[in-house]
Amino acid sequence: MRLILLGPPGSGKGTQAQRLVQRYGIVQLSTGEMLRAAVAAQTPVGLKAKDIMASGALVPDEIVVGIISDRLDQPDAAKGFILDGFPRTVPQAEALDELLKRKHMRLDAVIELRVNESALLQRVETRVAEMRARGEEVRIDDTQEVLTKRLASYRSLTEPLIHYYSERRKLLTVDGMMTIEHVTREINRILTAIGAVETKGAKAAAAKRTAKAAKPAAKTSKSAAKGAGAPKKTAKAYPKAGKTAAKGVKKSSRRLPASSKARAAGKPRRAAKKVTKKRAKA
Ligand code: AP5
Ligand code: MG
Repeated sequence: MRLILLGPPGSGKGTQAQRLVQRYGIVQLSTGEMLRAAVAAQTPVGLKAKDIMASGALVPDEIVVGIISDRLDQPDAAKGFILDGFPRTVPQAEALDELLKRKHMRLDAVIELRVNESALLQRVETRVAEMRARGEEVRIDDTQEVLTKRLASYRSLTEPLIHYYSERRKLLTVDGMMTIEHVTREINRILTAIGAVETKGAKAAAAKRTAKAAKPAAKTSKSAAKGAGAPKKTAKAYPKAGKTAAKGVKKSSRRLPASSKARAAGKPRRAAKKVTKKRAKA
């Protein structure tokens, strides 16, 4: 699974990324964390980034793209990753597209955590209090003054990515005003619905289908042929995460859409297309 978490400072990207790491065993690639580590270690990148980060501005694109490019080459990223805080500008997103293309990797989805600006300061203040309570060093940019600048950077440079990924049918929006637990549940629901993760039922059914297809095809009957051919068709027919899906996600009730139920039950994903179309019409 390859995901991007997008959202303003304090929207919960780091919190949700860690939960996804625990659940799916893939790595979190947080450019903010990597840059803070570089600052602490006083590396050349850290020395360049230190004052920029403290001011609430963005570190130059070429620096963060270089960091992510190196990181994606590490073996632990092969299984999948959650990008937290990257990309943050359109040139970064374009560079990421290029990197993924070169590495023959496909992005599953971009999950936008939408949070009212008025809630962000409170969250950052809570984080400061929590870090102090744990005896950790507080982030230098977690002040009201710097947060205002980080938000301004987000609005002017990062928000255009919502349009960028929406146009590429990758964007899914989650209401980040819900509790941490509810946001996690919603993200997991979406990931299942778009087929980025497999449910146990779907896994078992897929294994069954594979076993069936591997049997010498006694039967040249239509249904046997269909069974063997199903996976190919499925992949082709299933729509990518996109505007339509995003709309469905926002509007739909808590329950899984029929498409994911069908998939959970091991039925081919084809059904998803019909459902999505219906939703689009509705
Ligand atoms: P970065 O470290 O990425 O910071 P950020 O984007 O400003 O985001 P935060 O880490 O502050 O918030 P978060 O969304 O992770 O929220 P969290 O889960 O912690 O970047 C820092 C700096 O590095 C940038 O300003 C820039 O200078 C530089 N940089 C980094 N990446 C870059 C890039 N790609 N290009 C250029 N420069 C880059 O949650 C916050 C608090 O809220 C926590 O206390 C949490 O417990 C709480 N919380 C979370 N979810 C909820 C919820 N649903 N309800 C209630 N509380 C919640
Ligand atoms: Mg963070």
